[in-house]
Amino acid sequence: MRVVTYDELTPEMETDRALIHLSAFGGVYPSRTVDIERRQLNTLADYVGVFAVEGGHVLGQVFVQRIPYAFRDLRGTLSGIAAVGTRPDQGRTGIARRLLTEVHRREREAGMEFAALWTNRSWGAHALYEQLGYRDVYASPWVVRLSGKPSGRRGQAPGIRPGRSSDIPEIDDLHDRRYAGRYGYCRRPRGVGQVLVRLGYLHPSQNLLVARRGRELVGYAHIDPNPWRVICGELVGGSAAVRQALVHEVNRVAGERRAVFQHTLLSESPEIFRGRGYASVPTGWYGMMGLDLAREWTTREAIDRFATADPRFVCLAGDRF
Ligand SMILES: CC(C)(COP(=O)(O)OP(=O)(O)OC[C@H]1O[C@@H](n2cnc3c(N)ncnc32)[C@H](O)[C@@H]1OP(=O)(O)O)[C@@H](O)C(=O)NCCC(=O)NCCS
Repeated sequence: MRVVTYDELTPEMETDRALIHLSAFGGVYPSRTVDIERRQLNTLADYVGVFAVEGGHVLGQVFVQRIPYAFRDLRGTLSGIAAVGTRPDQGRTGIARRLLTEVHRREREAGMEFAALWTNRSWGAHALYEQLGYRDVYASPWVVRLSGKPSGRRGQAPGIRPGRSSDIPEIDDLHDRRYAGRYGYCRRPRGVGQVLVRLGYLHPSQNLLVARRGRELVGYAHIDPNPWRVICGELVGGSAAVRQALVHEVNRVAGERRAVFQHTLLSESPEIFRGRGYASVPTGWYGMMGLDLAREWTTREAIDRFATADPRFVCLAGDRF
C-alpha cells in the first residue's frame, strides 16, 4: 500500500474516492469542489490530503484544512482534519491510523502546532483519535421545541425575511464584528459564504433568515430544514431582542416540524429557551477533538488550550468541518 497526496491521484481514482465518501458520509466530495475550494478559499493544505492506494485503487482518505483559530493567548491556524474514511471492505487493517500518522508528520513539518476534528463520541473512529492523542474539547448543547406546534404569530416578523446571495457580505461583516476578540473559529476566511452558494451547499432563500433595521442588517439565522425538523446552529444578532425575534421566526418557519437550536446561541441567550416549552441537553454526541502535534496531553490541558470552556468561546454551525 502506498500513501499519496491528492495531486498524485489519477482521474480514474475519482470513482473510488466517491465510493469511500458515499459509504462513509452519504455524500460526494468531487474534484470540482476541491478545485474551487483550493483556488477561491485557500483553506486546504497545499497537499489537500493523503490517500491509501493499492493496485490502482484508493482504499482510504484524509483531507486537511488550514483554519484560523483564536486560542486563549494565540491567534493561529490549526490543521483541520476532515472526511477520514476507509473503504468498508478494508476496515480495521490500519489504513486510517497510517494516513493520520502521515498527516500529523506533514503538519508538524509545515510548522503547525495543533490539529482538530469533529466526530461522534460513540463511533469507532473516536477510539482511534484518542489513541493518536486527540482529546474531547467541545460538544455543543441542544434545545428542541417541545410541541412542534406552529408558533402564535402567523405572518413573517417585521424586518425579517429569507436571505439572498446579496446579503452574504453583510452577514460576514456582522459575524466578524460581533465575534472579534473571542475564542474559536471566529476569523472566518472571507468569501466562504459565496463559495458555498456557488457550490450549491448554501441556498440563501432556504437556509438563511435575515433581520434588518431600516437598511442595516442586524441579525441572521442559518437554518437546515428537512420535512420533519429545522436545525438552527448559527443565529447571530446584535441585541437580545433581535436574537429573540429570529428565534420566533425560526419557530414560525418550522411550523409543525421540530425546531432545534444549537451552539453559542444557547449560552449567549439562555433566557430565550427558559420555560417556554423547550427540552434541552447540555452536550451532544457530536463534538470537537483537539491534538497537540508536539506532545501528549490530558483532556483538561486540551480544553484549556482551545479555550472551549471559556465564556468567550464561540461555536456556530459554520465552524464545523
Ligand atoms: C473510522 C474509520 C475511518 C477507521 O478506519 P480503519 O482504516 O478501519 O481504522 P484502523 O484500521 O486504522 O483502526 C484503528 C483503530 O480505530 C478503532 N476502530 C476502527 N474501527 C472501529 C470500529 N468499527 N469499532 C471500534 N473501534 C474501531 C480501533 O481502535 C482501531 O484499532 P484496532 O483495530 O487496533 O482495535 C472507518 O471505520 C470509516 O471509514 N468509518 C466510516 C466513516 C467514519 O466514521 N469516519 C470518521 C469520521 S469523523
